[in-house]
Amino acid sequence: MNIYQALSESYSLLINKSKTYKLDCEILLADTLHIENRLNLFSNLNKKLTENEINTFFRTIKEREKLKPISKITKKKEFWNFEMDVAKKVLIPRPETEVLLDLVSKVFKKNSNISFLDIGCGSGCITLSLLGIFSNSQGEAFDISKEAVMNTQLNLKKYHKLNQVKVFKRDVFKFKTHKKYDLIISNPPYLKKSDYINLSPSIKIYEPKNALVSDSKDGTMFYNHIISSYKNNLKLNGYLAFEIGDNQFKKLQKLLSQNGFIIVSKFKLINDQIRCLLAKKIKNYALQ
Ligand SMILES: C[S@@+](CC[C@H](N)C(=O)[O-])C[C@H]1O[C@@H](n2cnc3c(N)ncnc32)[C@H](O)[C@@H]1O
Repeated sequence: MNIYQALSESYSLLINKSKTYKLDCEILLADTLHIENRLNLFSNLNKKLTENEINTFFRTIKEREKLKPISKITKKKEFWNFEMDVAKKVLIPRPETEVLLDLVSKVFKKNSNISFLDIGCGSGCITLSLLGIFSNSQGEAFDISKEAVMNTQLNLKKYHKLNQVKVFKRDVFKFKTHKKYDLIISNPPYLKKSDYINLSPSIKIYEPKNALVSDSKDGTMFYNHIISSYKNNLKLNGYLAFEIGDNQFKKLQKLLSQNGFIIVSKFKLINDQIRCLLAKKIKNYALQ
């Protein structure tokens, strides 16, 4: 079997399973053959596959037939300028989160050394990207999930950044520190239980529920806690950056203002929902 035949056969297996079936097959075959750019498949259509390559490739196609996300099959995802390794029980980094980094990249001077705290670090995509933007910075990143902590450490190690970040397992509702940061950033779980029910099976089967769902009625429990309990860990004129869920902006805007913040930038999706916001701390409150 050559590349052309493998692609044709795999297309026919996935055509009714995925809207992006051609792309899926090409990514999976390129990954099996360790070809960096999938387009190179098309200049080698006559290349014969080994028995082993055929078996591996069609095993991945079977996984995709069962709706497993591509990144959970290849165990990697492009994010910012990095190729993130993504562990089984860790959330796949999403493109919206890159927008959050884009907002942050505009408020600090290029090459400035910032101190940051990444709450709910997951794969480490935010932490690693911050170090990509502000290369000599120092940070701390934590997550309640052991797999996430290990995944973040692995990705930092891969890019030789582990010495710049302390990564640890903690619960945001229990962790306390006296440290002051220039930036506190978080993409916490923000879906309401009712929103979770409507997610695609692919997400519900293969992505960790506790990375997505917030127990509170409106999904804002994490933000309420981070704003009120971590505000004293931000320096005056420091920034708080959040990825947020649908219909949460108004409530958070009020809460931020009551806690001494002004919103300096935000990102709106095509459906008019605000997905990312950046707030500046303009008042100091006495420690409670
Ligand atoms: C939406 S994911 C974001 C992961 C990563 N930062 C990203 O942007 O892809 C939320 C993360 O928060 C973590 N998390 C959930 N509850 C937590 C808690 N109580 N304390 C700390 N982290 C928590 C989850 O394990 C998950 O990794």
